[in-house]
Amino acid sequence: MCGMLSSQKVLSGQMASRDFLFRPPEPSPGLLLSPPSESVYVGRTKYLGVPFFWNSKKLINPHLCVVGTTGSGKSYFVKTFITRARLTIGTSALILDWAGEYADFVRSAGGRVVSFGEEGMNLLDLAGSSPHMRTAQVMDSLRMLTDISASPSQCRMTEDAIELAYAEAGFSQSKPLQKKKPPTLQGVQRILARHARRSSDASDAARRIKNLLLSSGSSFTASTLPLSSLLSGLVCVDLHSLPTETLRSLAGLSILQFVKESMRASDYSAGAGPPRLFVVVDEAWKIAADERSDVVSIVREGRKYGFGLIVASQNPTDVHKSIFSNAGTMMLFRLTHAQERGYVRSSLAYSDFYEEESHSLSVGQALVHLEFSKPVSCPRTFILRRVDGEELLVALHIGGGGMELEFERGELSSRLLSFGLTDAQARAVLSEFERHSFSLGASEFAALLGKFGYSRASAISLLRELGASEREMLSALAPSGKGESIAVLSGEKNERQASKPRKKR
Ligand SMILES: Nc1ncnc2c1ncn2[C@@H]1O[C@H](COP(=O)(O)OP(=O)(O)OP(=O)(O)O)[C@@H](O)[C@H]1O
Ligand SMILES: [Mg+2]
Repeated sequence: MCGMLSSQKVLSGQMASRDFLFRPPEPSPGLLLSPPSESVYVGRTKYLGVPFFWNSKKLINPHLCVVGTTGSGKSYFVKTFITRARLTIGTSALILDWAGEYADFVRSAGGRVVSFGEEGMNLLDLAGSSPHMRTAQVMDSLRMLTDISASPSQCRMTEDAIELAYAEAGFSQSKPLQKKKPPTLQGVQRILARHARRSSDASDAARRIKNLLLSSGSSFTASTLPLSSLLSGLVCVDLHSLPTETLRSLAGLSILQFVKESMRASDYSAGAGPPRLFVVVDEAWKIAADERSDVVSIVREGRKYGFGLIVASQNPTDVHKSIFSNAGTMMLFRLTHAQERGYVRSSLAYSDFYEEESHSLSVGQALVHLEFSKPVSCPRTFILRRVDGEELLVALHIGGGGMELEFERGELSSRLLSFGLTDAQARAVLSEFERHSFSLGASEFAALLGKFGYSRASAISLLRELGASEREMLSALAPSGKGESIAVLSGEKNERQASKPRKKR
């Protein structure tokens, strides 16, 4: 044996680089585990399978920033998280719903949906502010959302006109809570119009307000939105019926201003307890990116009042740096662009190991970064195997022409897969049901399959397999009764194999 074996001195760093028996880089279980009644379960860590219970007591603040490419699982996470938070730690949630994608979910979860457009908010209602402050807030919103800043004289004239409108309505400038009827934007527009002949800037400013009033109807002139009831329970303010992104953002900003005022006026001290309200802002890039937005004020001051903010965005650069670098919890779902990943990494400074892992995240998987309230020596970043969501038991309907097919979500998904759709296609079909209040007409369903390359005959075969009768299909898919007959429909059975795209599951 002599000469065959030799001993060698090796430093521990060199041993570690040989990759055997090293502990995967995850926070210690003590930081991730918490009693279920005081925390919100999210999912398990990828390597050690430790359940991650989100606990605001252990974190620097209760704010969450969620980023990821489209379809990566952001909204699914937010829905799961706020529903569980409501049940376990009793936190309310106010969702500003830009795309109308939370409304059905909130109804199914027993919450309330308020539609902005049907209900409105007079932009000059004081809602806790003084006329002077309210004027500044309205001007900030206009500067953020329109190009009024390009004309300092229009800004000044509009500001003066708002202050004059308050004065004409009998308000004193610096007092909040004055029990008088507030002026409206129509009044401001009239004041500007009075000066229009003498000044082209006044004329342009008046036209700007007039256009805003024309495009928004009475949404910003009459206060019918029940502001005080927005802050408790699960509430969704559906903004999607407002016609433009600017109007949706104006509504969102105005509600946030009210939330901020209510937050500051409350004598509540959060102490070490869980947050009492999450404000959810999903895909609101215009207002999440601006320093002047109250999204930023809620991040800065929310913790002490028990207000948490959840911002979700497809693009991390659309979220203001102070939100991005201050949120106690970062949920980084899959990001496809290297530039976006670079931006995230420059803020959070995680290792090459996580950078590589983040390339291969699938739907529902995320890189999670936590900022703990006390210094820790273990890693603060880990990979979440999957957001363990709780699907609401909702029925999906396919209807039209007397057809009434109803499925549980998982059941329809497995039938789509066994018909030959890929995972991604089946998910897209289910998302389309979610977007349309869980109900699609047979012809919309067939058109959707058409987008994936399935012929009409294949769609008919699928509907037949799902239980539709020939008669129902005839009236649902050919309402005019022209051009198709039951014989044609049933004769198409064999065409399915020929026309089905050859795709692996
Ligand atoms: N953890 C998960 N478990 C099971 N299904 C999931 C999970 N995450 C997402 N999904 C499904 O994937 C689809 C897309 O998810 P989601 O709507 O959350 O994406 P998103 O990131 O919000 O996309 P967008 O930016 O387009 O709004 C949905 O049908 C959802 O049900
Ligand atoms: Mg979404």
